[in-house]
Amino acid sequence: MRDCVRLAILIGALAMAAPAVQAQQPPDDNDRSDEDAMPAIASICLSCHGTGGRPALEDVPIIAGQQPRYLRSALLAYSTGRRTGGQALVMQEIVKTLSEDDIDALADWFGGQ
Ligand code: HEC
Repeated sequence: MRDCVRLAILIGALAMAAPAVQAQQPPDDNDRSDEDAMPAIASICLSCHGTGGRPALEDVPIIAGQQPRYLRSALLAYSTGRRTGGQALVMQEIVKTLSEDDIDALADWFGGQ
């Protein structure tokens, strides 16, 4: 039951994150290299995984600074349904909206934080 409530909160957070994607402009990367620029799609992740590398929610993993290759394989495992259990359902829904290019860009960017 507690897990259901938590999942509901997370899905609520996701719903709130969606309009933020439209509102938030991709950062101006004129004076930054492409490696540093945050992929615009990453703004949907920050609501749960945290802006300063620290998630606001206690049961959301820290992904900033994680190995890019690990992040990529975790995202692919959610997308193919290989990774289940825990709160995998939350991420399975999110990765449905991502292309493989998005996954590569997100893994590189979060890994570089
Ligand atoms: C609604 C909140 C929420 C949003 C939005 C969200 N995540 Fe997650 N994320 C989670 C939770 C909860 C988990 C733990 C899932 C589990 O138990 O497997 C997780 C797990 C992960 C993991 C696995 C971490 C590990 O240590 O294995 C990665 C990678 C990840 N998320 C990346 C992302 C990316 C990239 C985005 C944006 C496209 C994103 N997440 C958006 C809540 C969220």
